[in-house]
Amino acid sequence: MPITSLKVADFRNLAAVELAPYAHGLNLICGKNGSGKTSLLEAIHYLGLGRSFRSHLSTPLIRQSADKFSLYAQVVSETEHLIPVGAERDQQGSSKLRVAGKDIASITELAALLPILTINSQSHQLLESGPAFRRRYLDWGLFYQTEGFLTCWRHYERALKQRNVLLRERRLNNEIHVWTNELIKHGVLLDNMRREYVAQLLPLILTIAARLMDLSEIEMEYQSGWDNRDELAVVFKRHEADETRLGHTLFGPHRADLDIKIQGVSAKHFLSRGQQKLLICAMILAQGMLLSTHKEQGLIYLVDDLPSELDPVSRQKLILLLKEQKTQVFITAIESNLIYDPVNDKGAPIKVFHVEHGAYQTLT
Ligand SMILES: Nc1ncnc2c1ncn2[C@@H]1O[C@H](COP(=O)(O)OP(=O)(O)OP(=O)(O)O)[C@@H](O)[C@H]1O
Ligand SMILES: [Mg+2]
Repeated sequence: MPITSLKVADFRNLAAVELAPYAHGLNLICGKNGSGKTSLLEAIHYLGLGRSFRSHLSTPLIRQSADKFSLYAQVVSETEHLIPVGAERDQQGSSKLRVAGKDIASITELAALLPILTINSQSHQLLESGPAFRRRYLDWGLFYQTEGFLTCWRHYERALKQRNVLLRERRLNNEIHVWTNELIKHGVLLDNMRREYVAQLLPLILTIAARLMDLSEIEMEYQSGWDNRDELAVVFKRHEADETRLGHTLFGPHRADLDIKIQGVSAKHFLSRGQQKLLICAMILAQGMLLSTHKEQGLIYLVDDLPSELDPVSRQKLILLLKEQKTQVFITAIESNLIYDPVNDKGAPIKVFHVEHGAYQTLT
């Protein structure tokens, strides 16, 4: 759901910021290096996911010399209902999350209200880094649109953990069979969910990629994490000795990947930096578009430093696509004229904010 009002206190260099962003349009944040653009996106990200996209530690997020940061927003539901949400964290590490005036114990409740898709310099990891990033990418979509995913994923993770303990300690008793069966049951379900999701996602990725770039023969193939010509149960039987020797589970959805190739070559070895960014944007936008066809609640895109690595034509194509989403988008850029044209964009649903030393000002 989009945010209609946002208050940020003592987060990074943002001492006290209040904004009323566009709920269904572009919000452009401009300012010099170090002014506080990324920090604002990071604050919104924290509200939706309970963590930063820059640091796994929370202390660096608290403004220096402050004791805690606090974030507050009103999100608007598809029935135009306003729901207050909040998060805070202090130097001692205690944190609070609130939805509609009540403390909540788990971030999943907040995450369910605030689906957030982020495009920033770390997004390159989707192509460049290990399979964990691509699994996380797929699981983001499954969390929001596949019923039963979270429960299934939790069962699988628990079985995996228990089974690995027994393998590590060489306790190959009856208990391990119980966890193996549990792993197979939920692993097969998880695999089916991911396959189905990729099948829906792929045509969208290809359509968007074709609009953003001139690139032929993009292939994406989901790999289960085992040779799935065989059933998972058969694979475990066959590799029992290997798993006992190595002391952990060698096959299953925790080893899955999304293989991305261009003209038969791995995308990370084939694409230029800018092309990588465009393909990543296509992948992320496809997730958002797919989610919008399943749920009306609306989502939030955070696009940090949109102009970087992109030529003017690619930039404009990406902005046009973001505008077409009819959902809330936050974009940062050092200069507004790279994104916003005061003559042509007059009257368009774009709000422009300028930030200087952590102080925000609404320009349009
Ligand atoms: N805990 C903190 N307390 C105070 N200031 C901080 C804290 N953490 C980071 N900063 C400062 O906040 C400022 C804003 O950082 P931010 O990353 O938001 O800048 P930016 O506008 O995105 O810049 P750029 O254009 O270089 O990406 C920086 O000067 C940074 O040093
Ligand atoms: Mg920045």
